[in-house]
Amino acid sequence: MDSVILGDGPLGRAIAAALVERGDRVRVLGRPPGGAHDPAALVGAVVAFEASRGDAVAANVEAIVRSGIRRLVIGTTAWDADRSRIETILVTGGAAAVAAPNLSLGVALFGRLVDAAVALYGSVPAFDPYVVEWHRRGKADRPSGTARALAARIVAAHPRLIRVDEAPTAGPSASDALEVVGIRAGANPGSHLVGFDAPGETVELRCVARDRTAYAAGALAAADWLLSAGRSPGLHAFDSVVDGVLRPEAAMAS
Ligand SMILES: NC(=O)c1ccc[n+]([C@@H]2O[C@H](COP(=O)([O-])OP(=O)(O)OC[C@H]3O[C@@H](n4cnc5c(N)ncnc54)[C@H](OP(=O)(O)O)[C@@H]3O)[C@@H](O)[C@H]2O)c1
Repeated sequence: MDSVILGDGPLGRAIAAALVERGDRVRVLGRPPGGAHDPAALVGAVVAFEASRGDAVAANVEAIVRSGIRRLVIGTTAWDADRSRIETILVTGGAAAVAAPNLSLGVALFGRLVDAAVALYGSVPAFDPYVVEWHRRGKADRPSGTARALAARIVAAHPRLIRVDEAPTAGPSASDALEVVGIRAGANPGSHLVGFDAPGETVELRCVARDRTAYAAGALAAADWLLSAGRSPGLHAFDSVVDGVLRPEAAMAS
């Protein structure tokens, strides 16, 4: 398979290494000198991986689709404001993309574990949930896209919480808010913790990335899912890829 990766940082390089390891051909492109990628430079790839910066995603997706590539994996975070523009580019161009703030299969299953935990501990008022994420000092966005996604699913299912507090300040916390705290220190590639604290005990679920190979493996699984059957134009959630890994027969038919 011929692939192109837009983004030459740690994530883009990890995806490239995984593709090379399984014998695929790949080109990695960093920030374009003129500010925008020339679609002609992308021609020939079957799949494109977007692994750059949130503010570059919409223009990169446009260049990818204009080059004729119809399957994309978007791993970059912090582009929510451009979501409808990106969806329009994909649908108009007949291209299908899997987009996920976290491409690790372990994290995707962790989300389902958190759903189950909220169903249990959320029904006991004494247990108060919280989210802590920790990434390397240089990470651009905060809180992480993964922490945001975890917080959103906790609030959606919890009977007391109605909002997320991403920037808690001094003073007591509001009783209807879920606190999400980010640490930026060292070289950590990504740790997420969901806790439930009660007067006499604490329960914590923790998902720790040791390196970026799990993200790369999920990116390749997403590309394979896109190639394994006709997928409708537009954005697809990583959950569909995970369902395909858990039940391969069902994924071929979906
Ligand atoms: N989905 C996941 O599982 C997952 C996992 C890890 C990271 N991420 C996210 O993926 C993104 C990349 O992660 P990272 O750790 O590699 O980030 P990073 O260290 O910021 O690297 C991004 C690279 O992309 C380059 N770039 C900037 N604009 C570009 C453009 N228009 N086209 C191509 N490349 C461009 C940057 O160059 P400059 O330095 O010149 O800006 C930089 O070298 C981030 O949004 C991160 O949050 C997602």
